[in-house]
Amino acid sequence: MKELIVGNWKMNLTIKEGLKLASQLSKKIITTKRQAVICPDLASLAFIGPVIKGTNIELGAQDAAPLDQGAATGEVLPDNLRSLGVQYVIVGHSERRQQLGETATLINAKIKTALRHNFQVIVCMGESLADKKAQRTEVYLAAQLRQVLKGITIKKATDLAIAYEPVWAISTSKQAHPSSPEEADSTQAFIKKKARQILGREVRVLYGGSVKVSNAELFLEKKHIDGLLIGATSLEAADFTAIVNGKNKK
Ligand code: PGA
Repeated sequence: MKELIVGNWKMNLTIKEGLKLASQLSKKIITTKRQAVICPDLASLAFIGPVIKGTNIELGAQDAAPLDQGAATGEVLPDNLRSLGVQYVIVGHSERRQQLGETATLINAKIKTALRHNFQVIVCMGESLADKKAQRTEVYLAAQLRQVLKGITIKKATDLAIAYEPVWAISTSKQAHPSSPEEADSTQAFIKKKARQILGREVRVLYGGSVKVSNAELFLEKKHIDGLLIGATSLEAADFTAIVNGKNKK
């Protein structure tokens, strides 16, 4: 399976800025053993899709609806996301859990719906600083995995990936700093094992939180780190390209 390098643009760029970034990336990103995915905001998807068509960059959405169709004001029809060329969806990002109160039950419904519509789903989870200090990281993650993956079956290993993003490592959180690659690797080995027990097959586990050009390779060389979910650094064309293209391939 290819390593996944996912750029989460969050709510940072205007359509015009996003178009500029997408066009820079599409000229610079080469086909490698890594798969690049960019996740612009919803309003930008329709504009960005055509710019990256035919390149080694795929399109992702930052969220997904919990149901197929119907009375859900403000949600986006999964079929419409597909029509825009979206192949990946991120669900359960800690910002949505914190700011919008998204629960594991809701995230579970979003995963199921997205899989029914053949998206590749990137499920985010990570412990808070308080859980980490109380040495409850594995307890928290095991419970999350049980809840968000409840009743889920996947056909292919690439249908679902888990993004391990410790909340304290996300660059916009207070006094954020990245996890050490060693610590992330060992936590991700745990996630992989638990996910395999629940899903019956091995899935990719990505790391996210304060990833930069200077530390990306240190994470990617670890056995249980199969890709990266990148926020702030994905807004810089040169940096995101350097990470996707890999060492000495700038
Ligand atoms: P960051 O964000 O790379 O800016 O820490 C990662 C994320 O929130 O997905």
